[in-house]
Amino acid sequence: MGLPVGMTVSAVTALSLNPPQLLTCLQHGKYTLDVIRESGRFGVNFLSEDQADLADRFASNRFDKFTGISWAPGHTLGVPSIAGALAVAECIVTEVISSGDHDIVIGTLTSGRSREGAALIYWDRGYHRLVRQGQE
Ligand SMILES: Cc1cc2nc3c(=O)[nH]c(=O)nc-3n(C[C@H](O)[C@H](O)[C@H](O)COP(=O)(O)O)c2cc1C
Repeated sequence: MGLPVGMTVSAVTALSLNPPQLLTCLQHGKYTLDVIRESGRFGVNFLSEDQADLADRFASNRFDKFTGISWAPGHTLGVPSIAGALAVAECIVTEVISSGDHDIVIGTLTSGRSREGAALIYWDRGYHRLVRQGQE
């Protein structure tokens, strides 16, 4: 198995409950997209509010994005599961739809885990913590 690869995405959405599916939109030419298309699998790590440094790291062009961080191969597909992530899904690529300069990659989940906590929010070109109205 080679070096794991990954990228920061905001374009992820739930798609289907039965079977459980999600989709992500990845720009043509991104290295991570090429690897996903070739391998037919990917993982989604939903970052927690204290993981903005990882979002910055995975939005960069460096080739060793997983070096120095704590992660483990997922138990169904071996895709990276990052320590401290709020939720992780392992997915098999079931369909890729090209639209404009992006591919819509549809994945069917083979495993998922989640924990209680608050998600990292990207809005207005910056990272934010989510605050429930009335508690700010
Ligand atoms: C907050 C944020 C959200 C992003 N969302 C997406 C996205 O949804 N789709 C995409 O193709 N790129 C997105 N990007 C850009 C990629 O993370 C960036 O191009 C990355 O360097 C690609 O890595 P790679 O070339 O190693 O695959 C986002 C970047 C940031 C900072």
